[in-house]
Amino acid sequence: MNRVYNFAAGPACLPLPVLEQARDEFISYQNSGMSVMEMTHRGKHFEAIIHEAEELLRELLDIPANYKVLFLQGGAVMQFSMLPLNLMRASRKADYFITGEFAEKAAKEAAKFGTVNIAASSEDRKFAYIPKTWTLDPDADYAHINLNNTIFGTRFTQIPDTGAVPLAADASSCILSEPLDVKRFGLIYAGAQKNIGPAGLTVVIMREDLIGFAGPKTPVMLDYKTFAENESMYNTPPTFAIYMAMLVFRWLKSLGGLTVMQKMNQEKAKLLYDCLDASSLFKPTADKEDRSLMNVTFTLPTEDLTAAFLKAAEAQQLANLKGHRKVGGFRASLYNAMPIEGVRKLVAAMQQFERENHV
Ligand SMILES: Cc1ncc(COP(=O)(O)O)c(C=O)c1O
Repeated sequence: MNRVYNFAAGPACLPLPVLEQARDEFISYQNSGMSVMEMTHRGKHFEAIIHEAEELLRELLDIPANYKVLFLQGGAVMQFSMLPLNLMRASRKADYFITGEFAEKAAKEAAKFGTVNIAASSEDRKFAYIPKTWTLDPDADYAHINLNNTIFGTRFTQIPDTGAVPLAADASSCILSEPLDVKRFGLIYAGAQKNIGPAGLTVVIMREDLIGFAGPKTPVMLDYKTFAENESMYNTPPTFAIYMAMLVFRWLKSLGGLTVMQKMNQEKAKLLYDCLDASSLFKPTADKEDRSLMNVTFTLPTEDLTAAFLKAAEAQQLANLKGHRKVGGFRASLYNAMPIEGVRKLVAAMQQFERENHV
């Protein structure tokens, strides 16, 4: 079987045991005579799947009882619109932390619906760091951050204290990579295609008291209440993606949950960052204290060397290491499903490349 180490930022690698189980049950799920893809979402099989998915997610993230778990579609980008449509409910003002391209897009979308205050920005140094100070508006309806910046390889290591103002977080590229104190947030959202499952599913975890403020002209599919009141099944949910997410949650639990996952992710990231810090050829792009555990960004001094390393890496089954065009160079995404062997192999390839291209 030809499986590569897939360092893509998303859609990203999934755990092999999950793929194998999905394969084994693909054609006839639990002797039902049909695939999960072919089933009604109102039947006993799928209802058991969506309930188990929610229960496991609650257990993994220790989600308090006064939070709803919603399974939506539309990707994280749809949340850029849904959030202001629902949460701009009094002052119609919101604070945004601009720490990357997705944060910028989220703020731009919110500005269509109300007043956006830029609480802090790291644009001055091409988003290579996380701002350490910010200006918050005590009157804001909510504040928004990107917990992990997929493109620029940075992350918040401290959750900003926004006082009574609910904090909404885009956790697309770090959810389930380590424990998260859910009660610090009013709302957390994540596209599934990195640490949860296949694309097509978006998970929202939100405090119940924030539901029900969408204006009367809000499309029904953009109102959190629609999903909260109908157990995420107002219409047909992304059934197969939810089933895959359930399998991923089971896999996470079987490994020992998020504390164990955090240790594994720290170990993987350390291997690669240590290699970068010791290198005189490869250069990490993010400030040391703000480095992401999930997306490691780095460069080589010339375009020729960059192309040569990508080619050498691909020849060794190390796939999708090309960096985002905004940063250039390389990005190694080390999501939960990336085994440490993949990182070891990448580090060995980098060290070999450095020996061969020593200047
Ligand atoms: C942090 C972050 N936010 C938003 C997005 C966009 O998500 P989607 O493509 O699910 O709309 C991504 C995607 O790749 C991301 O990494």
